[in-house]
Amino acid sequence: MRITSLSALITIMFCLAVLTGCDDGPIHEKEYVPTTTGYTAVVKGTFKKQSTWTSGYSVVVAGFSDKSDYAIIQKTLAAKNNEDTEISTTLSNISDTTKTLEIAVVNSLRKRVATLFSYEIPANQQIKDTIRLNVGELNVGMFATINKEIFQGKNCSRCHASPTATAHLDLTSDNAYKSIVGVESYKKPEYMRVKPGSADSSFLYKVITTGDERVAYNHPALFVDSKYATFQTIIKKWINDGAKE
Ligand code: HEC
Repeated sequence: MRITSLSALITIMFCLAVLTGCDDGPIHEKEYVPTTTGYTAVVKGTFKKQSTWTSGYSVVVAGFSDKSDYAIIQKTLAAKNNEDTEISTTLSNISDTTKTLEIAVVNSLRKRVATLFSYEIPANQQIKDTIRLNVGELNVGMFATINKEIFQGKNCSRCHASPTATAHLDLTSDNAYKSIVGVESYKKPEYMRVKPGSADSSFLYKVITTGDERVAYNHPALFVDSKYATFQTIIKKWINDGAKE
C-alpha cells in the first residue's frame, strides 16, 4: 500500500517536471547565464515591420541542423514596438548539431517558413567563444517575405517584369507592392489584384489558388510544393489582414 502511494507520488512529480520543462511558448529574453555545454550566440540587428506578421507566425533567432526545417533552438525577437531600435538577442546552449543560425519566420510548430538571414557555424567553432553577429537593418515584414520568397523566389518576374509585360503586371522587387495593392486586374477588371481586407475578392489570390478561365497560364501548379503551399495561406492572411507594406 505504502509502496503504491509512494510510486504514485513519484509519478506525479515526474509528470510535473516534464510538464514544466516542456513549455514550448515564446522564449523571452532572460538574463544570460554563462554555460559551457553549448555555443552562445549574440545576434544584433534592427528588425523592421515585424508587427505586420499575423498570428500563427513569428520572427525568431533560431538554430537549425542541415536535416530538418524544425528549429532546434529559437527565441522570439524582442518587443514589436522596438522595430526602429537595434536589439540584441542571446541564444545559449546551442547544440553542436546546429549548422546555421538564422533570422527566420517559423510557424507555431517551430517549422521554418522562410529564412531572412543565415549564418553558417564554422566547423572549428569553439564552444567557449561566443558567436557575435550583426545583421544590420533587416525588413522582416510579411510583405517583404512574400516578395522575397514568392514574387522573386518563384521567379514570377520571369513573365511579369514590367508594366507592359504579361497581363501588364510588374512583380519586380521594387514595383510589386504598388502593382498589386488596390490596383484593378487587367484580365478581370471587376476584381482588384489585391483588395486589402478580402482575399476572396482579390484576383491575385484567385489566380494562385484556383486559377481563372481568363488566365491561360496554370499558376496553382507553381504552388504544389508544400513550402509554397504554405505561402498561399500566408498571402491569404496578408490580404485579409489589410495587405500592409
Ligand atoms: C510562364 C509565365 C508566367 C509566370 C512564371 C507567372 N505568370 Fe502570372 N500570368 C501569366 C499569364 C500568361 C497570365 C495571363 C495573361 C493573359 O492571358 O494575357 C498571367 C496573369 C497573372 C495575373 C493576373 C493579372 C491581372 O491583372 O489580371 C496575376 C495576379 C499573376 N499572373 C500572378 C503571378 C504570380 C504571383 C506569379 C509567380 C508565382 C506568376 N504570375 C508567374 C504568365 C506567368
